[in-house]
Amino acid sequence: MTNDNPILSVLKGEKPSRIPVWFMRQAGRYLPEYLELRSKHTMLEAIQTAELAEEITLQPLRRFDLDASIIFADILNPLIAMGIELDFVKGSGPQIFNPLKTKEDVDKLIIPDPYKSVPATLKAISNLRKHELLNNKALFGFAGAPFTLSAYMIEGGGSSKLHLTKKWMYSNKKAFMELQEKLVEYLSQYLIAQAEAGADILQIFDSWLGFLGQSDYEEYVEEHLVSLISKVRAGTDKPIVFFATGVSALFPKFKNLDIQVLGVDWRLNIETAKQMTDSKFILQGNLDPLHLFASQEKLESEVKNVLESVSDFNSFIFNLGHGIIPETPVASISKVIDLVHSKEL
Ligand code: CP3
Repeated sequence: MTNDNPILSVLKGEKPSRIPVWFMRQAGRYLPEYLELRSKHTMLEAIQTAELAEEITLQPLRRFDLDASIIFADILNPLIAMGIELDFVKGSGPQIFNPLKTKEDVDKLIIPDPYKSVPATLKAISNLRKHELLNNKALFGFAGAPFTLSAYMIEGGGSSKLHLTKKWMYSNKKAFMELQEKLVEYLSQYLIAQAEAGADILQIFDSWLGFLGQSDYEEYVEEHLVSLISKVRAGTDKPIVFFATGVSALFPKFKNLDIQVLGVDWRLNIETAKQMTDSKFILQGNLDPLHLFASQEKLESEVKNVLESVSDFNSFIFNLGHGIIPETPVASISKVIDLVHSKEL
């Protein structure tokens, strides 16, 4: 299993052998070998075929000296078994063909058994956990958060402002809360199943939470997030990471979450994030993914900025402030890893 992994050391409160580093979306379209595989298989085939998901998960590990891998899947594919018709459309991202419109649509949604709805993901996790390339790596499982997934189900795909979702929320609170409750039931079982399959750490992505103001977070979202985390906690002792973007104002509220690690996007300095959360969590972040396109000098100085803003290296996991985007130069990834690893503890 994973002995001497710096992320797991940090999570145990021990001094790591080096500052841990991994990247959100470390498998994906910036890698030629990923594009090659995707030219032969659709996104859903890649997720729903354990061997393909395993191969894509391993691709970044073959190239880079990373401390973790994250299972190749998406936050949206688990929704298919609930009754959501979904596909990843080239050029425009994920699309839902039967977006939710009424409370009846919510009532019709099924709460599936993850062992039946996402067997390939669970099989891939259990095979990967035994794979030699993961010997000393932490393996992340993950899921979308109830709010972000509810919003996707209502918007039907990407959205720049979440207008449909917000209109729904304010005019149809009961249905919106029921939708999130259903997702909490399913997602808690999904995350626990990933832990049982061998995931070492579970990350919850709430990518769209930043669209809400603080009082709406409190009124419509917080109780479901708290409930999801407590259900997962009741089923597994694997550590939980919570990540959202554009949520700096909510950081003091996040102290109510029973998590070990809080993701920080690039908007907030790590030191400030730490103060805003009373040093309650291990922080993970937060280089701007666009800095990977900057000059070598700029990239180096931004990585150093992140490292310098962390006074206590015993409790930090280096990552980006959001996922790697397509066309990111592969050499920039290697450079960041080298810079992080060369920092003396
Ligand atoms: O991090 C990893 O390498 C693991 C796999 C992973 C994917 N999606 C694969 C993927 C993870 C952890 C996700 C999470 C995800 N998916 C989030 C939360 C994190 C975030 O970025 O905010 C969200 C919001 C989604 C929804 C999603 N899936 C979008 C908006 C898109 C299209 C835009 C984009 O970035 O590509 C996807 C497609 C997707 N998910 C791809 C990959 C590798 C690209 C598929 C392809 O065209 O090959």
